Amino acid sequence: MLARVRDRLPARWRPTAKALAPADFRPAARAALPAFLWNYLEGAAGERQSFEANRAALAGIELRPRVLRGLSEVDTSIELLGRRWTLPIALAPVGAAGMFARRGEAQAARAARRVGVPFTLSTVGVCTTAEVSEAVAGEPFWFQLYVIRDRVARRTVLEEARRCGCDTLVFTVDMPVPGRRYDDLYPGGLADGARSAGLRRTLQAVTKPHWAVNVGLLGRPHTLGNVAPFLRDGETGLRDFFRWMAENFDPGIDWSVLDEIRDQWRGNLVVKGILDPEDAARAARAGVDGLVVSNHGGRQIEGAPGTAAGLPGIVAAVRPTHPDVAILVDGGVRSGTDVMRMVALGADAVLVGRPWVYALAAEGQGGVERWFDLIGRELATQMVLAGVDSIAGIDSGTLARA
Ligand SMILES: Cc1cc2nc3c(=O)[nH]c(=O)nc-3n(C[C@H](O)[C@H](O)[C@H](O)COP(=O)(O)O)c2cc1C
Repeated sequence: MLARVRDRLPARWRPTAKALAPADFRPAARAALPAFLWNYLEGAAGERQSFEANRAALAGIELRPRVLRGLSEVDTSIELLGRRWTLPIALAPVGAAGMFARRGEAQAARAARRVGVPFTLSTVGVCTTAEVSEAVAGEPFWFQLYVIRDRVARRTVLEEARRCGCDTLVFTVDMPVPGRRYDDLYPGGLADGARSAGLRRTLQAVTKPHWAVNVGLLGRPHTLGNVAPFLRDGETGLRDFFRWMAENFDPGIDWSVLDEIRDQWRGNLVVKGILDPEDAARAARAGVDGLVVSNHGGRQIEGAPGTAAGLPGIVAAVRPTHPDVAILVDGGVRSGTDVMRMVALGADAVLVGRPWVYALAAEGQGGVERWFDLIGRELATQMVLAGVDSIAGIDSGTLARA
């Protein structure tokens, strides 16, 4: 009872706000956020089957305990896309993350830089690419591009990403149309286009005073920074951005778009949103530097397999012919154990989506840093218990059933 009351308080009012386990940030985020933002973050397509499948597939993978292996030091670092990182974990692109904390993308990017992991800025972030670049003192970060019908907009955001020092482009291909996410359609939800929706969201916001002041008032402007220049004069509302996005989804695109992007982008090119071995092999043949095995956190196609179930088939389809293509994966990764499972199944690294946003919403930049600290310790502990001392040492032999 007492714990339930405590969980509903804003994070900074709770006496035991300090997260002790990675999972602690989720209830803290829920307590901190207005309902429309919580529903957007938690949202998944249809009846949430793809979302559930991600967790179920991971939970079904058993690790192999090993003992007396004489490990003196454990190294969790990796080399990926030309740089060294302290953990095999990157922050996935999350649209409008700047609504979860004041100038949220800038805070998360600073956290990632301090920890030594990649941060990916979404096309539809609140902060502009330039604002994030300034936050990380010009250090390179990753930029995610959606398929945008407006070619001028596409070229402009790519040029800006390059100018701001992004060295890796994450090109998301699993959103030719948005999935059917019902949570956002209910009254006051992010996609509720009714005239009363704004008032409903305001009412939800005033029940979360910490968010209302810190983000609602002091975190402005609440536009999607990189998209704002392409809207008509005077358009700054949520509805205007939804209209622009709806006009810019393009189910007509095909593989030739990769050649176009290659012409416009000289840095690393990573294709995100692949779940089928044939598509993965095709992307590898097209010359990408990496791919992200993903079902968009269960937010796009409904009824798909969990990514951990799809990953081995993709590794088998790509590695033998294209050993240099980095294979990343996301979907349901919540613990150091999950990271280990994905690496044991053949991934070079994982992306996390919702977890970093929970930490950001609960405790800002410091929360994201703390989440990485907890997850890193968990990974290192699990590595010792599974008898490996490096990420490269985690392979199919780390699984109870290889
Ligand atoms: C609220 C939210 C917004 C997202 N926005 C984007 C986006 O703008 N671009 C993108 O490629 N993926 C986006 N994703 C998908 C994530 O990048 C990632 O694939 C997914 O969250 C991984 O699953 P997880 O949340 O279980 O870790 C979003 C996911 C969430 C939860």
